[in-house]
Amino acid sequence: MIENNVFFGVDYYPEHWPRDRWDTDAILMKEAGFDAVRMGEFSWAKMEPELNHFCFEWLDDAISILKSYGLKVVLGTPTAAPPAWIIEGNPEILPVNELGIRMGFGGRHHVCMSNKSYREHIIRFVNEIAEHYRDNDAVIGWQIDNELGNSHKELCMCENCQSGFQEWLKNKYKTIQKLNESYGTVFWSQTYSDFHQIPAPKVTPNSHNPSLLLDWKRFCSDLIIDFQQMQIDIIRSICPDKFITHNFMGFYDKSDYFNLAKNLDFVSHDQYPSGFWLEDPAVTPSSELAANLDFIEGLKDKPFWILEQQAGPTGWEIMGKTPRPGQLRLWTAQSIAHGADAVFYFRWRTCLFGTEQYWHGILPHSGIPGRRYDEIKKTISELHPVMQKIRGVKNRSDVAILFSYDQNWAFQIQPHHPDLNYTKQLIKYYAYFYERNIPVDFISYESDFSEYRLLIAPLQFLSDEDIALKFKTYVKNGGNLIMTMRTGVKDENNVCFSESQLPGPFSELLGIEILDYDCFLKLSVQVTIGDKILGKAQKWCDIINLNFAKAIAFYDEEFYKGTPAVTVNAYGKGDAYYIGFEPDERLMNGIMDIISTNCHIEPILKSQKGVEIVQRVAADGKCYFALNHSDKAVRIMPNTEWKRILGSDVLDPYDIAVFYESIK
Ligand code: GAL
Ligand code: ZN
Repeated sequence: MIENNVFFGVDYYPEHWPRDRWDTDAILMKEAGFDAVRMGEFSWAKMEPELNHFCFEWLDDAISILKSYGLKVVLGTPTAAPPAWIIEGNPEILPVNELGIRMGFGGRHHVCMSNKSYREHIIRFVNEIAEHYRDNDAVIGWQIDNELGNSHKELCMCENCQSGFQEWLKNKYKTIQKLNESYGTVFWSQTYSDFHQIPAPKVTPNSHNPSLLLDWKRFCSDLIIDFQQMQIDIIRSICPDKFITHNFMGFYDKSDYFNLAKNLDFVSHDQYPSGFWLEDPAVTPSSELAANLDFIEGLKDKPFWILEQQAGPTGWEIMGKTPRPGQLRLWTAQSIAHGADAVFYFRWRTCLFGTEQYWHGILPHSGIPGRRYDEIKKTISELHPVMQKIRGVKNRSDVAILFSYDQNWAFQIQPHHPDLNYTKQLIKYYAYFYERNIPVDFISYESDFSEYRLLIAPLQFLSDEDIALKFKTYVKNGGNLIMTMRTGVKDENNVCFSESQLPGPFSELLGIEILDYDCFLKLSVQVTIGDKILGKAQKWCDIINLNFAKAIAFYDEEFYKGTPAVTVNAYGKGDAYYIGFEPDERLMNGIMDIISTNCHIEPILKSQKGVEIVQRVAADGKCYFALNHSDKAVRIMPNTEWKRILGSDVLDPYDIAVFYESIK
């Protein structure tokens, strides 16, 4: 992490307000305790109103005012909103959707990322802005673009992107015969005689080949990563002393975030607990909020920044619920507890115009500080000292969940069950631990599995011998592994294995064979342990034959009544578990209680439902956060060794407490 003294910041758009308000804003920011602002990420038209006519004066002016109050600046490259004059000169920058229709100007993210003219404009502009601010010491770092991949159901499918895809495929498969074999294009006469015949997957009368769809998602992910890299290279060469980050969006899926994170100094994340528009429930469950944060921390296995933390009611055309008194403070504390080293709020003042005039900032439209300003000011004064203790250090958990974009994409292409969702299944496992105050890390295939006592790798649909070997080695050396339904089904091209029974390359490790299965459309099946009904298997059922494994639970209905539903296989020094379905909550608790006990997984502290206990390691001790997500007052029973640094043992609705334990 590049060292600096930024702990709290705010997203500020001086161009939306008269010049004579800027001082007032800076004063109010300073009084609230802010150290920095993020700005610029959507103001290309104001910075370059016509070709090569650069107008940075207004921004210099704003930065110097902020600087005079001791505020630092993170600048965004404004490439997510190329101005109308660029589009007028090069209308082919506008993206083409899956229906083959070129979309219009008037929103943002109206771009084709492979378009050469757009990229030339970016190279020109980013060089210019980086040169302009290289020696400005108030500017401490850069945010590349904004939420890369956002706003698109699919990335652009124009001719140019299609040729880019064909090149990408040529690179991967070398010959068209190899591609035909890998995809099984003999099906429905899809055999290609040349790479130039391969389509971007526009809408067809029915479904595309699943292998082609998966490669398209991989190609789009690589395109986003390449697009970001183009900007990183420019900025790094001109401003080597400033950090480079990007604002990620939790489990958003348009690019492989592990790879997108690689060449950034640290990742940042945008956290909106109320989400967008008509989502139900109005506030995302706290387990899911925590999962997003832990996932982001896992991307580089180190702390991160929040560049957009919700500051008020969200909404564009339709508006969300206003955060209850205490919730902004609670959500801030949750972000910090799960690994944020700095928190910036979106946005300073609610805009009077444009699409986001109801996406509320800290200040209301009037600019007069009110309830939200006061709450954030209090939050900063309380949490600033806490952050000084924990900054830069990442927690290490005993439990890890493996996240894979390939698996996620493969299940988006073929969910099997209409409600099956890869990320949601992972979050269900996460939630079991979350509810018990047991920390969890999210990791990738590249991580060192051996650091974890328990590894959960749901839905390992696509695989190969190398991946299987990595799992086998982990368990053989004493690791405990949980695998679930639809594992070992396909190769990396999204084609089914035929050489062995399911679960393919994992059969030996899991000690089972699956000869039959059942998709639960409008059905769920009871599962028992001993003679006790534990809960219901949902969405899918693997009908399992035991080879070396032992059964832990059994199906209790249908023609497979009495057959194994959950199994465990002792393999080397460890155990490999298999869960042949998606458990409902009761069943999840029943199964995971058994496995956690076997693996000696301990909670940080027991608490009432609705109260989250999180730990963050510090250089010389540990910080513990108690977070009351419920609307009721609750009592907590902190460990006697914990020294209270904030709050009390009775937490009001949405209240927090913080404790510290020194390492002796
Ligand atoms: C984020 C985005 C911000 C703002 C905010 C509210 O996704 O990065 O620029 O648009 O949402 O809609
Ligand atoms: Zn395109």
